[in-house]
Amino acid sequence: MCGIVGYVGPDEALPIVLEGLRRLEYRGYDSAGVAVLDGDLTVVKRAGKLSELVTALDEDGHPGGTVAMGHTRWATHGAPTHRNAHPHLDCSGTVAVIHNGIIENFQQLRARLEKEGHTLASETDTELVAHLIEERLRDGGSLVEAVRATVRELEGAYSLVVMSSEEPGLLIGVKVASPLVVGVGAGESILASDIPAVLGRTTTVIPVDEGRIVEVRAGGATFSDFDGAVVHPDSIEVDWDTARAEKGGFDTFMLKEIHEQPSAIRDTLVGRVDELRRLALDDLRISDDVLREVNKVFVVACGTAYHSGLVAKYAIEHWTRLPVEIDIASEFRYRDPVLGPDTLTLAVSQSGETIDTLEAARHARRQSSPLLAVTNTVGSSLAREADGVIYMHAGPEIGVAATKTFATQMVSQYILAMYLAQVRGSMFPEEIAEVLTRMAELPAQVERAIALDAQVQELARRFQDSRDWLFIGRHTGYPAALEGALKLKEISYVHAEGYPAGELKHGPIALVEDGVPVVAVATTCHVYPKMLSNIQEVRARGAEVIAVATEGDEQIRGVAQHVLEVPETPELLSPVVVTVPLQLLAYHVARLRGSDVDQPRNLAKSVTVE
Ligand code: G6P
Repeated sequence: MCGIVGYVGPDEALPIVLEGLRRLEYRGYDSAGVAVLDGDLTVVKRAGKLSELVTALDEDGHPGGTVAMGHTRWATHGAPTHRNAHPHLDCSGTVAVIHNGIIENFQQLRARLEKEGHTLASETDTELVAHLIEERLRDGGSLVEAVRATVRELEGAYSLVVMSSEEPGLLIGVKVASPLVVGVGAGESILASDIPAVLGRTTTVIPVDEGRIVEVRAGGATFSDFDGAVVHPDSIEVDWDTARAEKGGFDTFMLKEIHEQPSAIRDTLVGRVDELRRLALDDLRISDDVLREVNKVFVVACGTAYHSGLVAKYAIEHWTRLPVEIDIASEFRYRDPVLGPDTLTLAVSQSGETIDTLEAARHARRQSSPLLAVTNTVGSSLAREADGVIYMHAGPEIGVAATKTFATQMVSQYILAMYLAQVRGSMFPEEIAEVLTRMAELPAQVERAIALDAQVQELARRFQDSRDWLFIGRHTGYPAALEGALKLKEISYVHAEGYPAGELKHGPIALVEDGVPVVAVATTCHVYPKMLSNIQEVRARGAEVIAVATEGDEQIRGVAQHVLEVPETPELLSPVVVTVPLQLLAYHVARLRGSDVDQPRNLAKSVTVE
């Protein structure tokens, strides 16, 4: 949510900042702006996507300078207009601020600043920070002292980058809940809200810890807490290369990432088995003794990650016999769940920065529940705060709609479920070995599901004008249906509802009328006969049924008008395969309807506000 990039070094800063913003545009694309320092501060900003800003710069000239910062916005306070675009300046025009997150006491601060005679040019909470710093600078002292005094007045969850023409060569970053990293290059430093922005300049990254202020200069970064005590955080090496953050010949990131699923799953599976053929999880960090004492598992997540958790519930319960509760993270912490040292909390988040998931995880930890993170992002807040981590190793995902990270979130949770089963003795080693063998087949099966592309495209053409869709499934087909509906909604802006097929008759079947497309996940499994009946029920009411079924299934052709055949997969693992044609369906419908699939309206990849 909001992309932040700042550069200090020997080179022209603007192209580096723009390149970083391009890589971060998935975080927000309501408006974009830059501030460049060359004696004076030059601010250029535009409403709309980054391309609008680039066009403006191309037309009016690129300001030169070796210190700059830039921002892509996902609007919270104030409409996505030119006026509200970041960076924001103080009254003197010497201090510039960019910001990600929300300042919660913004109304009080705004009233006070207006009373004190400040001229506020925007409706944003961000601008207030520039004016507060201006006030503190008037008291005397350095920029960092002024920033330190200012953050004491701010309430909320945010990260900030501040620069001043009075102290050139310095960028100041502040982190309170929203993500911030420092990329350490050769004689240069980059501050960013996310790792892809620094790739291409460096792979050495220092994640900024909670409650820290960082002074970034070309020669390096100094970290301190809000009281001024200097701290020395560790750096990490990121193994994502820039090529993986590029489109690589595909029209869109989303399509590329759908196609990357086989290799992403292989990467998730690599190195999980030791020489004795036992599962070994290097980053788990929670002892087997603790895992043996667990008597319940809570899974917390948002969006697509939540759907992966729904799938994991079936696997964990089946393999470990532990009860599993799964919650949408933003609901979990406000419902007083019964947590303790014997409940394991599993927080699933691709970015590791989704604030709802982070806060749910923190809530669980405060109640002494051991916390495990499933995340794609090394150095993310969730990874650092959790007792143990399972990394998905999916590589960077840029498309806002999650695809390969859904597959790898599920695979990571299968691995974890079996590890719990191994530790607790609820599965025989041969059973685990058998599941691992079947999991090793998933990449090839996903490959075959991707090969349905042309057939899916045909169906997308046929149904592109439908405004209402139903997605139905039972057992693990149900979360797959939810994910299929979510994909369609988020990128093609048509109404789609995912439903447990058996529950349809208790309400939503009233929506079915002639020609309504109903996508039915109906692969071979123990509830297949029930699924066939549910399909008959919607057919009888005029639905056009698109079934995702197991290869060679003749019976389904008697009930569904359209059949997409996927390879046979064990039912607990099947969502990894069946969601592929659903992702492609959403993709092609969205493209035919002319929407921007990588940057769908109103959404952001990493949601760092509650
Ligand atoms: C946003 C994204 C979704 C994602 C969700 C959770 O809403 O648009 O694609 O599933 O956040 O993200 P996380 O990083 O926590 O997995």
